[in-house]
Amino acid sequence: MKIRTVGVIGSGLMGSGIAQVSAQAGCPTTILEVSKELLDKGMQRIQGFLDSGVDKGKLRPEARDRTLSLLKGTTEMKDLSECDLVIEAITENLSAKRDLFSAASKVCSEKSIFASNTSSLSITEIMTASSRPERFLGLHFFNPVPLMKLVEVVRTIVTQDEVESAALEFVRATGKTPIRTSDRTGFIVNRLLVPYILDAIRALENGVGSIEEIDAGMRLGCGYPMGPFTLLDFVGLDTTYYIAGIMFDEFKEARFAAPPLLKRMVLAGTLGRKSGKGFYDYSQDPPVPQNHLTA
Ligand code: CAA
Ligand code: NAD
Repeated sequence: MKIRTVGVIGSGLMGSGIAQVSAQAGCPTTILEVSKELLDKGMQRIQGFLDSGVDKGKLRPEARDRTLSLLKGTTEMKDLSECDLVIEAITENLSAKRDLFSAASKVCSEKSIFASNTSSLSITEIMTASSRPERFLGLHFFNPVPLMKLVEVVRTIVTQDEVESAALEFVRATGKTPIRTSDRTGFIVNRLLVPYILDAIRALENGVGSIEEIDAGMRLGCGYPMGPFTLLDFVGLDTTYYIAGIMFDEFKEARFAAPPLLKRMVLAGTLGRKSGKGFYDYSQDPPVPQNHLTA
């Protein structure tokens, strides 16, 4: 079993990156979105990244053009019917993902492998809405997808060996390193990362330091490439809030609970970089920390 053609569902932060690396690996890749407008936004994100790669001398113009030629956008599920692998990267919501895979099961070839890029939901719980539990697994990419080297490959107790092998081969073809993990909420990375970023918000709420001081602390004191607030804005506060809710439901441990400030910011529509404002205001350069949030 070899993966040659790929479908990616959702062209937000993650889906656009996954589609890009899939096409860069030489796979004709079709992206499904809910509207032409959102599809165009995702395509622009890919084009922007590839253009900046060319400007930085990291990518040859011919490689950019070949990648773009392998990408196609659609708003119709039927265009994914012949894909060898369909990767879902829509909003972190169980019923939305289950509905999607139920619909995809009716349209896609029964040979297609289905994968979810979920951060925190149970792969098993998503998979049972599909017609092919044994051909279903998690492929958890990291943000920003084109630069992050890791993919968690999540098998369930019914995933076929050949499906996992084909997925591992696909991940390696994208130039990434796969790590295998089992279907436990948050897998390996988010099990450790999510309590850390939520604790940073609690530290801010408790007056331990300002946004920029806490960020500088973890960058300069621990060598992290980004401080936790820069990372929260990068991941998206809505996505982080959904992940925290799902992980708290699973573990019932306070360290996974969403801090009240995170909830208020999501309700207010300050979602991080994607909305222009989160813990920092991105309308200015350099971005301005929003320390009044805890006032
Ligand atoms: N095309 C090709 N290469 C590019 C590029 C482009 N458009 N843009 C940048 N690069 C290359 C750069 O040239 C550079 O390469 P070298 O190392 O060979 O010089 C490399 O990529 C890094 O680029 P920059 O120097 O511009 O960027 P940076 O050093 O500021 O790093 C970053 C950016 C990789 C995002 C870094 O800040 C980082 O690792 N941040 C942490 C990200 C993180 O933790 N992500 C995980 C989020 S959690 C998650 O994803 C899971 C979940 O479920 C929520
Ligand atoms: P996002 O909000 O940027 O994008 C989600 C996209 O899915 C939107 O463009 C939306 O229009 C689209 N969508 C929603 N329902 C759809 C449907 N039925 N059909 C087609 N498209 C649909 O979210 P994101 O940050 O890209 O996250 C996507 C998934 O990846 C989530 O499960 C998230 O937990 C996971 N993830 C996120 C990150 C991160 O850092 N943001 C990292 C790893 C994994």
